[in-house]
Amino acid sequence: MSGDKHVLRAELRNEFRHRRRGLSESAQQTASQAVLNNLIETNLLDVRRIVAYLPNDGEVSLQPVIEYAWQQGIDVYLPVLHPFSPGNLLFCRFTPSSHMQPNRFGIPEPVIEVQDICPLASLDCIFTPLVAFDAHGNRMGMGGGFYDRTLAPIRRDGLNCQLIGVAHSCQQADLLPVQSWDIPLDKIVTEQQIYSL
Ligand SMILES: Nc1ncnc2c1ncn2[C@@H]1O[C@H](COP(=O)(O)OP(=O)(O)OP(=O)(O)O)[C@@H](O)[C@H]1O
Ligand SMILES: [Mg+2]
Repeated sequence: MSGDKHVLRAELRNEFRHRRRGLSESAQQTASQAVLNNLIETNLLDVRRIVAYLPNDGEVSLQPVIEYAWQQGIDVYLPVLHPFSPGNLLFCRFTPSSHMQPNRFGIPEPVIEVQDICPLASLDCIFTPLVAFDAHGNRMGMGGGFYDRTLAPIRRDGLNCQLIGVAHSCQQADLLPVQSWDIPLDKIVTEQQIYSL
């Protein structure tokens, strides 16, 4: 990878993480409710199985989306660090009675039960957190490559699973520097609007 691009990505990551961490508690709550409303209005939650995430580092909380999904009978899954495939994620069923434990980043995840794991091909929609996005659907994450690695088969095998980035509008960049392994998004939802690519 070119050194310049690597440095630029690291600088952008710092700036955009700082922005989202600077949002007030009330701005965070307003955003998470607005994201739910935007998804309902555009019928993006008329599906059977979704992957959500639990918020970290100023990310938009999907708690309202998760509760709405549970009310509607939509199955909710959360990313779990793969126990023996480093750098990859598993998607495990999340219910109000799931046993949770913190992973090595301190983020709670369901304790893995084999029958609760959902293969990528059976998921309708994956909501990904992100550090920054642009209007072309490019996504920058926290820098671990977890989503890029795990989601690569969606593009490679033409799976029918929508990738929807979830962000505060202040996380929009003009044009992100991307790498060959970055998996682009199909849609981005913010508290203000939905971008469809
Ligand atoms: N499909 C892949 N196979 C192997 N390595 C990968 C793959 N995708 C990403 N990586 C590696 O992961 C590292 C981090 O990637 P990147 O900077 O794009 O992370 P990110 O998109 O911010 O993180 P995430 O995907 O977890 O949100 C890179 O060094 C890259 O080489
Ligand atoms: Mg990436």
